[in-house]
Amino acid sequence: MRTRTQVGIVGAGPAGLLLSHLLALRGIDSVLIEIRSRAYCEARQRAGVLEDASVTLLREAGLAARLDRQGLQHGGIYLQFDGARHHIDFRELTGRTVTVYAQTEVVKDLIARRLADGGDDAIAFSVTDTAVSGLDSDRPVLSYTDASGVRHEVECDAIAGCDGFHGICRPAIPAGLQTTWERGYPYAWLGILADVPPSTDELIYSYHRNGFALHSLRSPLVSRLYLQVTPETELRDWPDERVWAELGRRFDLPGWTLDRGPVLDKGITPMRSFVSAPMRYGRMFLAGDAAHIVPPTGAKGLNLALADVAVLAPALDALLHGDDKPAAAYSATCLDRVWRSTHFSWWMTTMLHRSPGADEMETQLQLSQLRYVVSSTAAATSLAENYTGFAVHSAASGHVH
Ligand code: FAD
Ligand code: PHB
Repeated sequence: MRTRTQVGIVGAGPAGLLLSHLLALRGIDSVLIEIRSRAYCEARQRAGVLEDASVTLLREAGLAARLDRQGLQHGGIYLQFDGARHHIDFRELTGRTVTVYAQTEVVKDLIARRLADGGDDAIAFSVTDTAVSGLDSDRPVLSYTDASGVRHEVECDAIAGCDGFHGICRPAIPAGLQTTWERGYPYAWLGILADVPPSTDELIYSYHRNGFALHSLRSPLVSRLYLQVTPETELRDWPDERVWAELGRRFDLPGWTLDRGPVLDKGITPMRSFVSAPMRYGRMFLAGDAAHIVPPTGAKGLNLALADVAVLAPALDALLHGDDKPAAAYSATCLDRVWRSTHFSWWMTTMLHRSPGADEMETQLQLSQLRYVVSSTAAATSLAENYTGFAVHSAASGHVH
């Protein structure tokens, strides 16, 4: 079946979903395809922290009704090391905050809105054999087979590759026209979702000789916790009892207890830094994890994905009206923020994790850096400024705030 749309979007993660909504607000048609089912997309456990600018972006796009009711505003984080817990006060240092609202909830809100506005056909879930072609022409083509087995070829004015790190769009760029940078880390995160009220009012990032641990949350009733483990770790070696015992050790503080509850979800996340540039090839634009990956220690991945499409939506609008300038600037505009977040995420990661075989020199350097961050207003402000994020392009108004 041969059809036509203005923008073909590959991937219904936060980037693809928000882009199709922002384009719809501008009166631009899109076709959004996703290899997974709706249920899978809505259940996948991932990020949990939104920068102020991401909240503003979602609010301006009319997507924040539930976020404004259920999001938990946090004015700082705790850094724990050497048997003490220190507060970094974002509000005082930068005037900004972050909001704890799970990526799963952002995705549910976006899917509901797209289907309400665009009808059941607004998103094609559970498609197979996706392909993109003609990217260096004015009429690139998006091809896929829908859930009922019908093959589609959609002629587009532009294609947005929002299909994550393992997608098909980035590999469609000729190798010689793309530069990539990559850093692997010798550790991974084992994450649990637990049916127990958080034992803390704000996130705790803990440096411990056994490895890093993070206490986050999803709601006043549900906790999210992570442990640094080796990349080869198998989930079957970590029964719930072992996870709780190790979390207890890494957060141990006299007079404080970690409450336990039933584990609702358990998974392992590899850690990687990756950037691919430029984020455009002909009439295809990459956004979110399709173009860059950061380790989760800086809570940046989701925010970067949203920030990319806030730049991309007006750039596509201009391109479709014959003005290529914003589209030409898209990659450089995004990469500026991407590299800042890449550095910050790498910095937080290497400051807080224990490398296998780390010597006493490395330990002392890490501890010195942590003491500096909690004792110097300049150093704490730098962490707070990066964590809470920088200005984002307003897709609605065109202003930067
Ligand atoms: P994705 O959310 O990956 O969405 C891409 C979509 O494209 C997916 O739905 C995928 O199924 C679909 N797709 C893939 N291939 C195709 C294809 N060929 N055709 C059609 N569709 C396709 N960030 C944090 O800030 N904090 C965290 O704690 C955190 N934890 C994470 C845990 C895991 C396991 C992972 C993988 C990521 C985590 N991240 C975290 C990163 C954050 O979730 C991502 O940065 C964010 O999801 C990026 O959004 P996206 O829309 O670019 O990509
Ligand atoms: C989360 O809540 O999942 C989370 C929070 C902060 C991070 C990473 C993950 O740095």
